[in-house]
Amino acid sequence: MSAAEKRLSAAEAKSARKPSPRATIAILDYGSQYTQLIARRVRESRVYCEIFPHDVTAEELAARGVAGVILSGGPASVYDRDAPSVDPKVLDGRLPVLGICYGMHLMAHLLGGEVAPEGKREFGPATLEIKDPSGLFEGLGTTERAWMSHGDTVKRLPPGFHGIAATDRLPLAAMSDGQRRFAVQFHPEVMHTPRGAEVVRNFLYRVCGCEGDWTPAAFVEEAVEELRRSIGDRHAICALSGGVDSAVAAALVAKAIGDRLTCVFIDHGLLRAGEAEQVVATFGTRLRLIHVDASERFLTRLKDVTDPERKRAIIGEEFIRVFEEQARKIGLAGPEKALLVQGTIYPDVIESRSRESKTSARIKTHHNVGGLPEVMDLEVVEPLRRLFKDEVRRVGAELGIPEDILWRHPFPGPGLAVRVIGALTKERLDVLRTADAIFLEELRAADLYRSVAQAFAVLTPVQSVGVMGDYRTYGSLVALRAVTTEDFMTADWARIPYDVLARISARIVNEVPEVNRVVYDVSSKPPATIEWE
Ligand code: XMP
Repeated sequence: MSAAEKRLSAAEAKSARKPSPRATIAILDYGSQYTQLIARRVRESRVYCEIFPHDVTAEELAARGVAGVILSGGPASVYDRDAPSVDPKVLDGRLPVLGICYGMHLMAHLLGGEVAPEGKREFGPATLEIKDPSGLFEGLGTTERAWMSHGDTVKRLPPGFHGIAATDRLPLAAMSDGQRRFAVQFHPEVMHTPRGAEVVRNFLYRVCGCEGDWTPAAFVEEAVEELRRSIGDRHAICALSGGVDSAVAAALVAKAIGDRLTCVFIDHGLLRAGEAEQVVATFGTRLRLIHVDASERFLTRLKDVTDPERKRAIIGEEFIRVFEEQARKIGLAGPEKALLVQGTIYPDVIESRSRESKTSARIKTHHNVGGLPEVMDLEVVEPLRRLFKDEVRRVGAELGIPEDILWRHPFPGPGLAVRVIGALTKERLDVLRTADAIFLEELRAADLYRSVAQAFAVLTPVQSVGVMGDYRTYGSLVALRAVTTEDFMTADWARIPYDVLARISARIVNEVPEVNRVVYDVSSKPPATIEWE
């Protein structure tokens, strides 16, 4: 294996040996908060891209069949000690390059121009005057709005470059060598640059020669071929949770290897109303599916447990145990025997990479089936590890998975265990299930389900006094939580109209006899988290 390949992860090295026939754009990451957004914009133009560490070599990029490079922005100054740089060969003019903000400074600095350490920052909208539309700005007006967020600026152009746009503050707001190398001081990837997507598209189509052939159908075709090749005649097993990612991963692998894939759906008794039935009805006919009703054993182990992290640990352990038992039963346990399919997606990959380089306090341990491979020593297949969530949904639609599964809100691995606050009993879980189902039904009826990222009811241990008819009641308090968020790292409470909340509250107190009071959670994250436990 070459030195270049060693630096890639095992899975990536595998795909490096067999470069995709489709063009790949490499985004070199200089730490901008917008790097993922650049990737989103490229993918929206139906061009495949990946984010690389900034010190990736030109050799590695060539091995990946890269058709063009985008240098992201970042917080550094080219004059900082240890300022992140780029392999000079990436900038030698053979590859198309688009530098954004810090990426532009880096190009100017390394190619013989000059960067002015500005001292004061410019942040906000600016009017761009386009001097040369060829290439990057084709089809745009002579003036366009653009979003700025920078300290340094380019003061003198590198030899062979000319200015292609200016603002009243910046005579060199964008530059080009008239061939393949372009750079912009503003951020075309953000929404506040209204025609930024066209700038990105011009780079991809006109400069890099991409064709926009990265479609869900093309992805499915390639992924199926690749899975067939890498799995060969082996068997695979998958823990199906009913969530979008594992469902799409399973459907994709099943398309490749048919009933050599066995899916195990473990009902831990902590699912929402009707969920187990829906999973079985949807997947039972199209996949080889084993439905395990393990609710008794989960509830027995969780009896009297109130601490959220204990709940998570028990559920995680028990899940692995049940899964292993099933794998043994069907003869797929043990090393070398079968592959484990997981629904890991691109943000998980990016997130765990950045977590490796940061230390952060553990707020909650997020149990999902991520614990399985270490324990079971199975080779992992992650066919979605390069896709964003909305791409997963489009691939799912391509594979014929129904809309209500594809658009379902995320649901935590430990399920309702972390939404029944305090001790779990079957009765308390049923109370929560009924209240939760009413909440979700009314949100759907008001056409709000898709506009919130996650919504659910929480059963609190609080009992309060009420009056119903002529009688005093002493009942449970249910809290409703609905949030809007892009990435689940931060979130805001959803502004659900009062009349919808009124209807939900009235139905819950009328239809769930144990509940006499409903509150709406108006906390953002941070300081609260999305789940209550
Ligand atoms: P928090 O509560 O940390 O939630 O703001 C962020 C997102 O993660 C989900 N979540 C979990 N998912 N296992 C999971 O698989 C867990 O233990 C877990 N806890 C929270 C939560 O539903 C939200 O989408």
